[in-house]
Amino acid sequence: MEKKLALEMRGITKRFGPVLANNHVDLDVYEGEILAILGENGCGKTTLMNMIAGIYFPDEGHIRMEGREVVIRSPKDAFDHRIGMIHQHFKLVDLFTAAQNIVLGMEGEGRYNLKEVNARVADIAAKYGFHLDPEKKIYDMSVSEKQTVEIIKVLYRGADILILDEPTAVLIPRRSTGCLPC
Ligand SMILES: Nc1ncnc2c1ncn2[C@@H]1O[C@H](COP(=O)(O)OP(=O)(O)O)[C@@H](O)[C@H]1O
Ligand SMILES: [Mg+2]
Repeated sequence: MEKKLALEMRGITKRFGPVLANNHVDLDVYEGEILAILGENGCGKTTLMNMIAGIYFPDEGHIRMEGREVVIRSPKDAFDHRIGMIHQHFKLVDLFTAAQNIVLGMEGEGRYNLKEVNARVADIAAKYGFHLDPEKKIYDMSVSEKQTVEIIKVLYRGADILILDEPTAVLIPRRSTGCLPC
């Protein structure tokens, strides 16, 4: 079967003052593909991914999805293009439950109906084989549970391109290799 191009980056350049973080980077992502970007610390991996996720905007170059140029200026723009990023440093509110964090900032119906949100979170967790209590508060969670919340948060919002920034860096080795349930 012919592979379908989901996302293209062309000539992406990003500077932070004198630091050239990305220098004319090209990247192709095909549907159904799992890609790993490797490189030493500081070589620009996170910066590149942050430009797909709407955290940074490229100085030069462009991003295309399904052949059309897209402008991603915020995480909301990224979600509108069904792109979600799980950051290396979690962005969760400790005093909130998993479900409250998952819907935080979302618009539209259902946001305040936590019963429905909890049920949907539980469904997504079951579908992907995660163990997560939607009503558990973040401050009571292990690091891997927090990571599960971040992953379910992007799935809940309908992302079909998932970016994980060093997802195993925060986990103990046995969890990184999938030998323990989350
Ligand atoms: N917000 C920022 N302000 C200034 N410099 C930054 C910023 N983010 C990243 N950098 C610099 O850009 C370069 C690439 O960083 P980064 O993308 O985090 O690399 P990696 O994820 O591969 O470790 C590094 O030199 C880093 O110090
Ligand atoms: Mg990084």
